[in-house]
Amino acid sequence: MDKLLIAGGRRLEGEIAISGAKNAALPILCAALLAAEPLVLLNVPQLNDIGTMLKLLAQMGVKVKREGATVILDARELDNPLAPYELVKTMRAAVLVLGPLVARMGHAKVSLPGGCAIGARPVDQHIKGLQAMGAEVHVEHGYIDAKCVKLKGARLFTDMVTVTGTENLMMAACLATGETVIENAAREPEVVDLANCLNAMGAQISGAGTDVIRIRGVDKLHGATYRIMPDRIETGTYLCAAAVTGGSVRLTGTSASYLDIVVDKLMDAGCEITTERDAIALTAPARLKAVSLRTAPYPAFPTDMQAQFMALNCVADGTAMIRETIFENRYMHAVELIRLGADIKIDGNTAVVTGMPKLQGASVMATDLRASASLVIAGLVAEGETLVDRIYHLDRGYERLEEKLGALGASVKRVN
Ligand code: UD1
Repeated sequence: MDKLLIAGGRRLEGEIAISGAKNAALPILCAALLAAEPLVLLNVPQLNDIGTMLKLLAQMGVKVKREGATVILDARELDNPLAPYELVKTMRAAVLVLGPLVARMGHAKVSLPGGCAIGARPVDQHIKGLQAMGAEVHVEHGYIDAKCVKLKGARLFTDMVTVTGTENLMMAACLATGETVIENAAREPEVVDLANCLNAMGAQISGAGTDVIRIRGVDKLHGATYRIMPDRIETGTYLCAAAVTGGSVRLTGTSASYLDIVVDKLMDAGCEITTERDAIALTAPARLKAVSLRTAPYPAFPTDMQAQFMALNCVADGTAMIRETIFENRYMHAVELIRLGADIKIDGNTAVVTGMPKLQGASVMATDLRASASLVIAGLVAEGETLVDRIYHLDRGYERLEEKLGALGASVKRVN
Protein backbone atom coordinates (compact mmCIF):
# COMPACT_ATOMS: atom_id res chain seq x y z
CA MET A 1 0.00 0.00 0.00
CA ASP A 2 1.30 3.46 -0.92
CA LYS A 3 2.45 5.90 1.73
CA LEU A 4 3.61 9.49 1.61
CA LEU A 5 7.00 10.40 2.98
CA ILE A 6 7.23 14.08 3.87
CA ALA A 7 10.41 15.85 4.89
CA GLY A 8 9.08 18.81 6.87
CA GLY A 9 10.35 22.31 7.33
CA ARG A 10 10.32 23.65 3.79
CA ARG A 11 8.59 26.93 3.00
CA LEU A 12 6.01 26.57 0.22
CA GLU A 13 6.47 29.07 -2.56
CA GLY A 14 5.27 29.37 -6.14
CA GLU A 15 2.19 28.83 -8.28
CA ILE A 16 -0.04 25.82 -9.02
CA ALA A 17 -3.33 25.26 -10.80
CA ILE A 18 -6.41 24.06 -8.90
CA SER A 19 -8.42 21.16 -10.35
CA GLY A 20 -12.13 20.81 -11.00
CA ALA A 21 -14.30 20.19 -7.94
CA LYS A 22 -14.80 16.56 -6.96
CA ASN A 23 -18.06 17.31 -5.16
CA ALA A 24 -19.46 19.14 -8.19
CA ALA A 25 -18.21 16.59 -10.72
CA LEU A 26 -19.75 13.58 -8.92
CA PRO A 27 -23.40 14.76 -9.09
CA ILE A 28 -22.89 16.27 -12.54
CA LEU A 29 -21.63 12.91 -13.88
CA CYS A 30 -24.90 11.41 -12.56
CA ALA A 31 -26.89 14.13 -14.33
CA ALA A 32 -25.85 12.44 -17.59
CA LEU A 33 -28.30 9.63 -16.69
CA LEU A 34 -31.18 12.06 -17.23
CA ALA A 35 -30.61 12.64 -20.97
CA ALA A 36 -30.55 10.43 -24.07
CA GLU A 37 -27.93 12.70 -25.65
CA PRO A 38 -24.23 13.13 -24.88
CA LEU A 39 -23.08 15.31 -21.98
CA VAL A 40 -19.57 16.70 -22.47
CA LEU A 41 -17.87 17.68 -19.22
CA LEU A 42 -14.70 19.78 -19.01
CA ASN A 43 -12.35 20.27 -16.04
CA VAL A 44 -13.19 16.85 -14.54
CA PRO A 45 -10.49 16.01 -11.97
CA GLN A 46 -8.61 12.72 -12.27
CA LEU A 47 -9.41 11.13 -8.94
CA ASN A 48 -10.27 7.67 -7.69
CA ASP A 49 -13.82 8.73 -6.77
CA ILE A 50 -14.40 9.97 -10.33
CA GLY A 51 -13.06 6.64 -11.69
CA THR A 52 -15.44 4.75 -9.40
CA MET A 53 -18.42 6.84 -10.54
CA LEU A 54 -17.54 6.34 -14.23
CA LYS A 55 -17.28 2.59 -13.65
CA LEU A 56 -20.72 2.61 -12.00
CA LEU A 57 -22.29 4.63 -14.83
CA ALA A 58 -20.73 2.31 -17.43
CA GLN A 59 -22.29 -0.70 -15.66
CA MET A 60 -25.68 0.98 -16.10
CA GLY A 61 -25.19 1.25 -19.86
CA VAL A 62 -23.68 4.74 -20.14
CA LYS A 63 -21.00 5.00 -22.84
CA VAL A 64 -18.04 6.74 -21.24
CA LYS A 65 -15.12 8.42 -23.05
CA ARG A 66 -12.38 10.12 -21.06
CA GLU A 67 -9.55 12.19 -22.45
CA GLY A 68 -7.59 14.01 -19.75
CA ALA A 69 -9.96 16.41 -17.99
CA THR A 70 -12.73 15.93 -20.58
CA VAL A 71 -15.37 13.25 -20.07
CA ILE A 72 -18.12 12.44 -22.59
CA LEU A 73 -21.10 10.50 -21.28
CA ASP A 74 -23.77 9.07 -23.55
CA ALA A 75 -26.75 7.60 -21.65
CA ARG A 76 -28.86 6.91 -24.77
CA GLU A 77 -29.36 3.29 -23.73
CA LEU A 78 -29.63 2.45 -20.06
CA ASP A 79 -30.20 -1.18 -19.21
CA ASN A 80 -29.16 -1.74 -15.61
CA PRO A 81 -30.53 0.39 -12.74
CA LEU A 82 -28.29 -1.27 -10.13
CA ALA A 83 -25.65 0.38 -7.93
CA PRO A 84 -24.02 -2.57 -6.15
CA TYR A 85 -22.70 -2.60 -2.58
CA GLU A 86 -19.10 -3.19 -3.76
CA LEU A 87 -19.04 0.24 -5.41
CA VAL A 88 -21.28 2.21 -3.03
CA LYS A 89 -19.31 1.11 0.04
CA THR A 90 -16.14 2.69 -1.36
CA MET A 91 -17.86 5.94 -2.26
CA ARG A 92 -21.06 7.22 -0.62
CA ALA A 93 -21.67 9.69 -3.45
CA ALA A 94 -22.73 6.70 -5.58
CA VAL A 95 -26.14 7.22 -3.97
CA LEU A 96 -26.46 10.20 -6.36
CA VAL A 97 -27.58 7.82 -9.13
CA LEU A 98 -30.80 7.13 -7.20
CA GLY A 99 -32.81 10.21 -8.20
CA PRO A 100 -31.79 10.32 -11.87
CA LEU A 101 -32.38 6.57 -12.36
CA VAL A 102 -35.91 6.63 -10.95
CA ALA A 103 -36.71 9.72 -13.02
CA ARG A 104 -35.37 8.33 -16.30
CA MET A 105 -35.82 4.52 -16.01
CA GLY A 106 -38.67 4.35 -13.48
CA HIS A 107 -36.56 2.04 -11.33
CA ALA A 108 -33.41 2.14 -9.22
CA LYS A 109 -31.79 -0.39 -6.96
CA VAL A 110 -29.04 1.28 -4.98
CA SER A 111 -27.08 -0.18 -2.08
CA LEU A 112 -27.46 1.60 1.25
CA PRO A 113 -24.13 3.33 1.83
CA GLY A 114 -23.87 2.33 5.47
CA GLY A 115 -21.59 4.13 7.91
CA CYS A 116 -18.23 5.62 7.20
CA ALA A 117 -15.27 6.77 9.27
CA ILE A 118 -16.81 10.17 10.00
CA GLY A 119 -20.25 9.05 11.15
CA ALA A 120 -23.49 7.19 10.44
CA ARG A 121 -24.52 9.34 7.43
CA PRO A 122 -27.99 7.96 6.65
CA VAL A 123 -29.85 8.70 3.38
CA ASP A 124 -33.37 8.80 4.83
CA GLN A 125 -34.01 12.31 3.43
CA HIS A 126 -33.24 11.17 -0.13
CA ILE A 127 -35.77 8.36 0.30
CA LYS A 128 -38.42 10.53 1.97
CA GLY A 129 -38.23 13.06 -0.88
CA LEU A 130 -38.63 10.42 -3.59
CA GLN A 131 -41.61 8.95 -1.74
CA ALA A 132 -43.21 12.40 -1.59
CA MET A 133 -42.81 12.52 -5.39
CA GLY A 134 -44.78 9.29 -5.71
CA ALA A 135 -42.02 6.66 -5.80
CA GLU A 136 -42.63 3.35 -4.09
CA VAL A 137 -39.51 2.69 -2.06
CA HIS A 138 -38.57 -0.50 -0.22
CA VAL A 139 -35.41 -0.92 1.76
CA GLU A 140 -34.53 -4.62 1.87
CA HIS A 141 -31.42 -6.78 1.93
CA GLY A 142 -29.30 -3.63 2.24
CA TYR A 143 -30.68 -2.07 -0.93
CA ILE A 144 -32.98 0.87 -1.67
CA ASP A 145 -35.43 -0.34 -4.29
CA ALA A 146 -37.35 2.62 -5.76
CA LYS A 147 -39.97 2.43 -8.49
CA CYS A 148 -42.24 4.95 -10.17
CA VAL A 149 -43.73 5.12 -13.66
CA LYS A 150 -43.65 8.94 -13.59
CA LEU A 151 -42.54 11.09 -10.65
CA LYS A 152 -44.88 13.92 -9.65
CA GLY A 153 -43.77 17.37 -8.57
CA ALA A 154 -44.14 17.95 -4.82
CA ARG A 155 -43.22 20.29 -1.99
CA LEU A 156 -40.21 18.74 -0.26
CA PHE A 157 -38.77 19.71 3.10
CA THR A 158 -35.65 18.03 4.46
CA ASP A 159 -35.18 17.64 8.23
CA MET A 160 -31.61 18.90 7.99
CA VAL A 161 -29.56 20.56 5.28
CA THR A 162 -28.19 17.78 3.10
CA VAL A 163 -25.96 18.42 0.09
CA THR A 164 -26.30 15.15 -1.85
CA GLY A 165 -29.94 14.87 -0.67
CA THR A 166 -30.72 18.24 -2.29
CA GLU A 167 -28.82 17.19 -5.43
CA ASN A 168 -30.55 13.82 -5.72
CA LEU A 169 -34.02 15.33 -5.37
CA MET A 170 -33.24 18.24 -7.70
CA MET A 171 -32.15 15.80 -10.42
CA ALA A 172 -35.21 13.58 -9.92
CA ALA A 173 -37.54 16.60 -10.11
CA CYS A 174 -36.20 17.66 -13.53
CA LEU A 175 -38.24 14.93 -15.26
CA ALA A 176 -41.25 14.93 -12.87
CA THR A 177 -44.63 16.31 -13.89
CA GLY A 178 -45.36 19.81 -12.59
CA GLU A 179 -43.39 21.85 -10.08
CA THR A 180 -41.20 20.62 -7.22
CA VAL A 181 -40.14 22.95 -4.43
CA ILE A 182 -37.22 21.89 -2.21
CA GLU A 183 -37.24 23.83 1.05
CA ASN A 184 -34.35 23.87 3.51
CA ALA A 185 -32.19 23.14 0.44
CA ALA A 186 -28.38 23.05 0.69
CA ARG A 187 -26.84 26.30 -0.62
CA GLU A 188 -23.39 24.87 -1.39
CA PRO A 189 -21.74 26.19 -4.58
CA GLU A 190 -21.64 22.59 -5.88
CA VAL A 191 -25.47 22.49 -5.77
CA VAL A 192 -25.46 25.66 -7.89
CA ASP A 193 -22.96 24.12 -10.32
CA LEU A 194 -25.21 21.07 -10.74
CA ALA A 195 -28.27 23.29 -11.29
CA ASN A 196 -26.37 25.32 -13.91
CA CYS A 197 -25.40 22.12 -15.73
CA LEU A 198 -28.98 20.77 -15.57
CA ASN A 199 -30.32 24.09 -16.90
CA ALA A 200 -27.80 23.89 -19.75
CA MET A 201 -29.36 20.47 -20.49
CA GLY A 202 -32.83 22.04 -20.69
CA ALA A 203 -34.01 21.79 -17.08
CA GLN A 204 -35.98 24.63 -15.51
CA ILE A 205 -34.46 25.23 -12.08
CA SER A 206 -34.48 28.50 -10.17
CA GLY A 207 -33.33 29.43 -6.68
CA ALA A 208 -30.22 27.20 -6.52
CA GLY A 209 -27.84 28.84 -4.01
CA THR A 210 -30.78 29.80 -1.76
CA ASP A 211 -32.65 27.51 0.61
CA VAL A 212 -35.70 27.27 -1.66
CA ILE A 213 -35.14 25.62 -5.04
CA ARG A 214 -37.96 25.42 -7.60
CA ILE A 215 -37.87 22.90 -10.41
CA ARG A 216 -40.44 22.88 -13.18
CA GLY A 217 -40.42 19.37 -14.68
CA VAL A 218 -39.79 18.93 -18.41
CA ASP A 219 -40.42 15.89 -20.68
CA LYS A 220 -36.77 15.35 -21.44
CA LEU A 221 -33.31 16.83 -21.09
CA HIS A 222 -30.86 17.22 -23.98
CA GLY A 223 -27.07 17.04 -24.34
CA ALA A 224 -24.78 19.92 -23.36
CA THR A 225 -21.16 20.91 -22.82
CA TYR A 226 -20.37 22.07 -19.31
CA ARG A 227 -17.25 23.09 -17.37
CA ILE A 228 -16.99 21.90 -13.75
CA MET A 229 -16.30 24.64 -11.16
CA PRO A 230 -12.92 24.79 -9.36
CA ASP A 231 -12.46 22.73 -6.19
CA ARG A 232 -12.91 25.12 -3.22
CA ILE A 233 -11.74 22.47 -0.72
CA GLU A 234 -8.57 21.69 -2.70
CA THR A 235 -7.99 25.47 -2.88
CA GLY A 236 -8.47 25.87 0.88
CA THR A 237 -6.21 22.89 1.58
CA TYR A 238 -3.27 24.39 -0.39
CA LEU A 239 -3.84 27.78 1.25
CA CYS A 240 -3.55 26.10 4.68
CA ALA A 241 -0.49 24.14 3.57
CA ALA A 242 1.24 27.33 2.46
CA ALA A 243 0.12 29.17 5.60
CA VAL A 244 1.63 26.68 8.08
CA THR A 245 4.99 26.80 6.33
CA GLY A 246 5.11 30.62 6.41
CA GLY A 247 4.93 30.43 2.63
CA SER A 248 3.81 32.55 -0.29
CA VAL A 249 1.74 30.92 -3.05
CA ARG A 250 -0.57 31.79 -5.91
CA LEU A 251 -3.33 29.34 -6.85
CA THR A 252 -4.76 29.70 -10.35
CA GLY A 253 -7.95 28.43 -11.98
CA THR A 254 -9.90 29.03 -8.79
CA SER A 255 -11.90 31.78 -7.14
CA ALA A 256 -12.14 33.24 -3.66
CA SER A 257 -15.86 33.81 -4.17
CA TYR A 258 -16.62 30.25 -2.99
CA LEU A 259 -14.30 30.57 -0.02
CA ASP A 260 -15.29 33.74 1.81
CA ILE A 261 -15.19 32.36 5.35
CA VAL A 262 -12.03 30.30 4.79
CA VAL A 263 -10.24 33.36 3.41
CA ASP A 264 -11.51 35.41 6.39
CA LYS A 265 -10.15 32.84 8.86
CA LEU A 266 -6.77 32.77 7.12
CA MET A 267 -6.62 36.58 7.35
CA ASP A 268 -7.55 36.33 11.05
CA ALA A 269 -4.60 33.94 11.37
CA GLY A 270 -2.37 36.73 10.05
CA CYS A 271 -2.10 35.81 6.34
CA GLU A 272 -2.19 38.40 3.60
CA ILE A 273 -4.54 37.39 0.82
CA THR A 274 -5.08 38.99 -2.56
CA THR A 275 -7.78 37.78 -4.89
CA GLU A 276 -8.12 38.04 -8.64
CA ARG A 277 -11.00 36.84 -10.80
CA ASP A 278 -9.42 33.41 -11.37
CA ALA A 279 -6.66 33.24 -8.76
CA ILE A 280 -5.86 33.63 -5.07
CA ALA A 281 -2.49 34.55 -3.59
CA LEU A 282 -1.47 34.08 0.04
CA THR A 283 1.54 35.25 2.00
CA ALA A 284 1.86 33.92 5.53
CA PRO A 285 3.62 35.45 8.55
CA ALA A 286 6.46 33.57 10.28
CA ARG A 287 3.98 32.35 12.94
CA LEU A 288 0.19 32.14 12.54
CA LYS A 289 -2.33 33.21 15.17
CA ALA A 290 -4.83 30.62 16.46
CA VAL A 291 -8.31 30.83 14.89
CA SER A 292 -11.50 29.38 16.38
CA LEU A 293 -14.25 28.06 14.12
CA ARG A 294 -17.57 26.25 14.02
CA THR A 295 -18.58 24.12 11.05
CA ALA A 296 -22.09 24.44 9.58
CA PRO A 297 -23.75 24.25 6.15
CA TYR A 298 -22.69 26.81 3.49
CA PRO A 299 -22.07 29.75 3.67
CA ALA A 300 -20.70 28.95 7.16
CA PHE A 301 -17.34 27.25 7.69
CA PRO A 302 -17.16 23.96 5.69
CA THR A 303 -16.75 20.70 7.62
CA ASP A 304 -14.46 19.59 4.77
CA MET A 305 -11.92 22.26 5.90
CA GLN A 306 -12.11 21.51 9.64
CA ALA A 307 -9.24 18.99 9.74
CA GLN A 308 -6.89 21.25 7.75
CA PHE A 309 -7.56 24.17 10.13
CA MET A 310 -6.97 21.88 13.09
CA ALA A 311 -3.49 21.16 11.66
CA LEU A 312 -2.94 24.89 11.18
CA ASN A 313 -3.92 25.61 14.80
CA CYS A 314 -1.51 22.93 16.03
CA VAL A 315 1.39 25.28 15.23
CA ALA A 316 -0.31 28.66 15.67
CA ASP A 317 0.27 31.08 18.52
CA GLY A 318 -2.56 30.72 21.07
CA THR A 319 -5.52 28.43 21.71
CA ALA A 320 -8.34 27.73 19.25
CA MET A 321 -11.75 26.23 19.88
CA ILE A 322 -13.14 24.09 17.05
CA ARG A 323 -16.76 22.92 16.98
CA GLU A 324 -17.90 20.29 14.48
CA THR A 325 -21.68 20.40 14.00
CA ILE A 326 -22.18 18.36 10.80
CA PHE A 327 -20.62 14.95 11.48
CA GLU A 328 -20.50 13.26 14.86
CA ASN A 329 -17.16 11.51 14.50
CA ARG A 330 -14.95 13.84 12.55
CA TYR A 331 -11.97 14.19 14.89
CA MET A 332 -10.16 10.98 13.97
CA HIS A 333 -7.18 13.03 12.75
CA ALA A 334 -6.73 14.55 16.24
CA VAL A 335 -5.13 11.42 17.72
CA GLU A 336 -2.73 11.25 14.78
CA LEU A 337 -1.86 14.95 15.09
CA ILE A 338 -1.15 14.31 18.78
CA ARG A 339 1.37 11.67 17.65
CA LEU A 340 3.18 14.53 15.89
CA GLY A 341 3.34 16.47 19.17
CA ALA A 342 0.13 18.52 18.93
CA ASP A 343 -1.79 19.62 22.03
CA ILE A 344 -5.47 18.82 21.34
CA LYS A 345 -8.23 18.09 23.85
CA ILE A 346 -11.52 16.70 22.56
CA ASP A 347 -14.78 16.98 24.47
CA GLY A 348 -17.79 15.80 22.48
CA ASN A 349 -17.97 17.90 19.32
CA THR A 350 -15.49 20.49 20.63
CA ALA A 351 -11.75 20.39 20.15
CA VAL A 352 -9.42 22.74 22.02
CA VAL A 353 -6.12 23.13 20.20
CA THR A 354 -3.18 24.89 21.81
CA GLY A 355 -0.48 25.76 19.31
CA MET A 356 3.04 24.42 19.82
CA PRO A 357 6.15 26.15 18.51
CA LYS A 358 7.09 22.89 16.76
CA LEU A 359 5.73 19.46 15.71
CA GLN A 360 7.91 16.39 15.28
CA GLY A 361 7.73 14.00 12.33
CA ALA A 362 6.34 10.49 13.02
CA SER A 363 4.40 7.69 11.32
CA VAL A 364 0.70 8.47 11.15
CA MET A 365 -2.36 6.85 9.63
CA ALA A 366 -4.92 8.56 7.39
CA THR A 367 -8.53 7.76 8.33
CA ASP A 368 -10.57 9.70 5.79
CA LEU A 369 -10.04 12.10 2.93
CA ARG A 370 -9.79 15.44 4.73
CA ALA A 371 -8.14 13.88 7.80
CA SER A 372 -5.37 12.74 5.43
CA ALA A 373 -4.96 16.29 4.15
CA SER A 374 -4.53 17.57 7.71
CA LEU A 375 -1.76 15.02 8.35
CA VAL A 376 0.05 16.10 5.19
CA ILE A 377 -0.22 19.76 6.26
CA ALA A 378 1.16 18.91 9.71
CA GLY A 379 3.93 16.83 8.10
CA LEU A 380 4.99 19.81 5.99
CA VAL A 381 5.77 21.83 9.09
CA ALA A 382 6.97 19.03 11.42
CA GLU A 383 10.68 18.58 12.15
CA GLY A 384 12.15 15.55 10.38
CA GLU A 385 10.22 12.95 8.42
CA THR A 386 6.51 12.13 8.56
CA LEU A 387 5.19 8.95 6.96
CA VAL A 388 1.47 9.04 6.16
CA ASP A 389 -0.06 5.59 5.75
CA ARG A 390 -3.33 4.68 3.95
CA ILE A 391 -3.08 7.47 1.41
CA TYR A 392 -5.69 5.84 -0.81
CA HIS A 393 -8.00 8.26 1.02
CA LEU A 394 -6.01 11.18 -0.45
CA ASP A 395 -6.16 9.70 -3.95
CA ARG A 396 -9.96 9.83 -3.70
CA GLY A 397 -9.98 13.61 -3.55
CA TYR A 398 -6.65 15.30 -4.36
CA GLU A 399 -5.38 15.25 -7.93
CA ARG A 400 -1.58 14.76 -8.22
CA LEU A 401 -1.06 15.92 -4.63
CA GLU A 402 2.64 15.15 -4.35
CA GLU A 403 3.35 16.73 -7.75
CA LYS A 404 1.52 19.93 -6.82
CA LEU A 405 3.18 20.17 -3.40
CA GLY A 406 6.53 19.37 -5.05
CA ALA A 407 6.01 22.26 -7.48
CA LEU A 408 5.66 24.53 -4.44
CA GLY A 409 8.98 23.29 -3.04
CA ALA A 410 7.77 20.64 -0.56
CA SER A 411 9.59 17.34 -0.22
CA VAL A 412 6.79 14.77 -0.59
CA LYS A 413 7.49 11.30 -1.98
CA ARG A 414 5.12 8.40 -2.66
CA VAL A 415 6.68 5.22 -1.32
CA ASN A 416 5.48 1.65 -1.36
C1 UD1 B 1 -21.54 16.23 1.17
C2 UD1 B 1 -20.13 16.24 0.64
C3 UD1 B 1 -19.13 16.04 1.79
C4 UD1 B 1 -19.37 17.11 2.88
C5 UD1 B 1 -20.84 17.11 3.30
C6 UD1 B 1 -21.18 18.25 4.26
C7 UD1 B 1 -20.38 15.34 -1.60
C8 UD1 B 1 -20.16 14.21 -2.51
N1 UD1 B 1 -19.99 15.16 -0.33
O1 UD1 B 1 -21.76 14.95 1.75
O2 UD1 B 1 -17.82 16.19 1.26
O3 UD1 B 1 -18.59 16.80 4.00
O4 UD1 B 1 -21.70 17.26 2.14
O5 UD1 B 1 -20.87 19.46 3.69
O6 UD1 B 1 -20.86 16.38 -1.98
N2 UD1 B 1 -28.07 13.34 6.87
C9 UD1 B 1 -29.11 12.54 7.36
N3 UD1 B 1 -29.99 11.99 6.47
C10 UD1 B 1 -29.89 12.17 5.11
C11 UD1 B 1 -28.83 12.98 4.63
C12 UD1 B 1 -27.94 13.55 5.53
O7 UD1 B 1 -29.25 12.36 8.57
O8 UD1 B 1 -30.71 11.63 4.36
C13 UD1 B 1 -27.12 13.97 7.81
C14 UD1 B 1 -25.70 13.44 7.68
O9 UD1 B 1 -25.51 12.27 8.45
C15 UD1 B 1 -24.88 14.61 8.18
C16 UD1 B 1 -25.68 15.82 7.69
O10 UD1 B 1 -26.99 15.34 7.46
O11 UD1 B 1 -24.81 14.63 9.58
C17 UD1 B 1 -25.17 16.48 6.43
O12 UD1 B 1 -24.88 15.47 5.46
P1 UD1 B 1 -24.93 15.73 3.90
O13 UD1 B 1 -24.98 17.18 3.60
O14 UD1 B 1 -26.00 14.87 3.32
O15 UD1 B 1 -23.53 15.15 3.45
P2 UD1 B 1 -23.24 14.46 2.07
O16 UD1 B 1 -24.17 15.06 1.05
O17 UD1 B 1 -23.18 13.00 2.23
